[in-house]
Amino acid sequence: MSQAEPTIGKKRRSQSSDVPTSGIHSLLKLLPFAKPFTWNFIVVLFLVIIYNGTSVLQPYLVKIAIDRDLSVHHPNYQGLLHITIIYVVIVVLGVVANFAQVLVLQYSGQSIIREIRLQLFRHIEKQSMSFFDTNSIGRLVTNVSSDTETVSQFFTQFFLSMMRDGLSVVMIVIAMFELNVKIAAISMIILPILFGISFAFRNRLRNAYQATRSRLSAVVSFLAENLAGMRIIQIFHQERRQDDRFGELNEKHRRANVREYRTSVFFNRVLELVGNLAVAAVVWFGGGSVLHGAILFGTLYAFISYIRQFFQPINSMTQQWNTLQSSMVSADRIGKLLEREPSIQDKPAVERIADVSRVRGQVEFRGVTFSYQPDMVVLKNISFRVEPGEFIGVVGPTGAGKSSIISLLARFYEPQMGSVLIDGKDVRDYAQDDLHQVVGLVQQEVNLFTGTVLDNIRLFREDIPRERVVAAAERVGAHHIIERMPHAYDTPLVGKGQNLSMGERQLLSFARIIALDPRILILDEATANLDSQTEELVQQGLQAVSASRTTLVIAHRLATIRHADQILVLEKGQLVERGRHDELVAKGGLYALLAEKSGVNARVVSGS
Ligand SMILES: Nc1ncnc2c1ncn2[C@@H]1O[C@H](COP(=O)(O)OP(=O)(O)OP(=O)(O)O)[C@@H](O)[C@H]1O
Ligand SMILES: [Mg+2]
Repeated sequence: MSQAEPTIGKKRRSQSSDVPTSGIHSLLKLLPFAKPFTWNFIVVLFLVIIYNGTSVLQPYLVKIAIDRDLSVHHPNYQGLLHITIIYVVIVVLGVVANFAQVLVLQYSGQSIIREIRLQLFRHIEKQSMSFFDTNSIGRLVTNVSSDTETVSQFFTQFFLSMMRDGLSVVMIVIAMFELNVKIAAISMIILPILFGISFAFRNRLRNAYQATRSRLSAVVSFLAENLAGMRIIQIFHQERRQDDRFGELNEKHRRANVREYRTSVFFNRVLELVGNLAVAAVVWFGGGSVLHGAILFGTLYAFISYIRQFFQPINSMTQQWNTLQSSMVSADRIGKLLEREPSIQDKPAVERIADVSRVRGQVEFRGVTFSYQPDMVVLKNISFRVEPGEFIGVVGPTGAGKSSIISLLARFYEPQMGSVLIDGKDVRDYAQDDLHQVVGLVQQEVNLFTGTVLDNIRLFREDIPRERVVAAAERVGAHHIIERMPHAYDTPLVGKGQNLSMGERQLLSFARIIALDPRILILDEATANLDSQTEELVQQGLQAVSASRTTLVIAHRLATIRHADQILVLEKGQLVERGRHDELVAKGGLYALLAEKSGVNARVVSGS
C-alpha cells in the first residue's frame, strides 16, 4: 500500500506538466464551488448574447442606412431617422448589458474565491501537526492567496472569453454569410490563418508568462526572507552581498517581463497585420463587386467592419490559454490540499465531555514508543503516572524528547506503541476539542496575533469576560506591565507582538493559558526568556495556578522544578530516572549531574 502511493504521485506530476488532463480533472473537481452561482452564469450568458447581438447588429444597421436610405436615387430621411434611433437604442442596450455582465460575473468570481479560500483555511486549520512538519508556510500562503485567485480566473475570464468570444466569432460569420455568400467564403480564409498564428504563438506566450510569474515570486520570497531577517543581515554586514543577489533576481525578472511584452506585442501586431491584409483583400474583391453592381457599397462597409471585429475575440481567446494553464496548475495544488485528510481525527461518534472542569487531570503514559519518521525512535517505552493536582518536572539534555512527550499528551501526534491516558481514558477516545480544553500548553515560542492585549490573552474568545482576563494577568504578574502600556489592555499588538519584549510576550502567554483555565497545564521551557525578577513573579504565579491542577513543567533551569512532586529525567528518548529533587541528587545519576551544572551556571550568572 505504502509502496503504491509514490508511483501514483509521480504519474500525476508528469501528467500535469505535459498532458493537462489531470489539470482539467482538478478544475472540474472545483466546480462545486461554482455551483451556487449557476443562475448567475446563466444570466451572464444571456447578457453576453445581448451584448454580442448589439455589436454584430451595428455594422448591419449602418449598411442598411447606406444602401437603403442614403442611395442617391431614393433619399429616405424617415428611414434614416429610424435607423439612427434603433442604432442609438442598440448601442445603449449593449453598454448596459456589458456593464451588468461584468458586475454579475465579478460578483460570482469573487464569491467563488472567498468560498475556496475559506474552505482551504478551515481545511488547513484541521490538519494535524505532522502536516505542518512537511508543508512550508510559504507554500500554504501561496495556495490560499494566489492559487485561489488564479482558479477564479478560470470561472470568470476563461469562461467569459469562451462564451463571449466564441459566440462573437460565430455571430460574425453568420452575419457575413447572410450579407453575401461569395465574399463571406473568401473572407473565411482568414479564420484558419488567425487560428494557426494563435496556435503557433500559444506555447511561446505561455512560457513567457510563466517565466515572469516565477521570477516575480523569487523576488517576493527573497524580499520576505530578508525583511524578516534584516537584523541578522546588518549584524553580519551582509547588505552588499544581499544587494547583489537582489539585483540579480530583479534583473532576471525585468528580462522575463520584457520578453513577455515583446512576445505578446509581436503576436498582436502579427494578428493585426493579417487582419489588415484581409481588409485589403475584401476591399479589392468586394470593391470589384461594387463596381460590377453585384453588391452595394453598404455591404462592403459592413464586411470591412466585420473583418475588423474578428481580431478582438480571437486574440482574447488565445490569451485564455495562459489562464487555462495556470488555473489548472493552481486547481491541482488546491485539489491536493483539499483531498488531504487530517492524519489525526476524532473517532466516529466520539462522546463529548459535558463539563470539562470535572476532568480530574490524572495523566498516564503506558509503554509509549514514538517516532516522527520511520526508524528514528524519539521515545522508547515510556511509562509514568501523574496524579491529579501533582506538579511534575521534566528534564533532560536537548533533543531528549521532552517536548515530544507533551505533543503526545495533547495528541498533536500519536504514538506507534503504547497509550497515553487522561483520567484512565485513552486520549484517542476524547474529542480533540475537549482535549485541547483539558490540556493547556505554554511554549517557548509565543504566538501572538494582530489584535489588542485583551484579544490575545483570551484568544478572541468573547465568552471570556474582561475581569477573568485581568484576574489571569494579575495571577501571573503581568497586570502591572500591561497597565503601563499606552492603552493598557486595549493596546494593539504590532505584527506578532514585535512591540513587546520577549519576557512580556511570555507573560501574556501565561496569562492566556490561565484565562483558558485548563485542568492540565504544561509549560515548555516557558521561563527561559524572563529576567530573574520577572521570573520570580512568574514562579509565584506558577505556584498559585498549579495548586488547583496537574502541572507539567519542562525546564532547563532546575530551580523552577526543585519543589516538584516528581521529576522525570529523560535521556535519548528513555526515562532514565524519576523521583523528588533530593532523592535524585542523592542518587548521583544524570539529574545530579544536571543539577550540578545548572548550579554552576547560576553562580556564574549572578556573579557577572
Ligand atoms: N516535528 C519533528 N519532526 C521530526 N523530528 C522531530 C520533530 N520534532 C522533534 N524531532 C526530533 O525528535 C527528537 C526529540 O525532540 P524534542 O523536541 O522532543 O526534544 P527536547 O527534549 O524537547 O529538546 P529541547 O530541550 O532542545 O527542547 C529530536 O531528535 C528532534 O530532532
Ligand atoms: Mg523542547
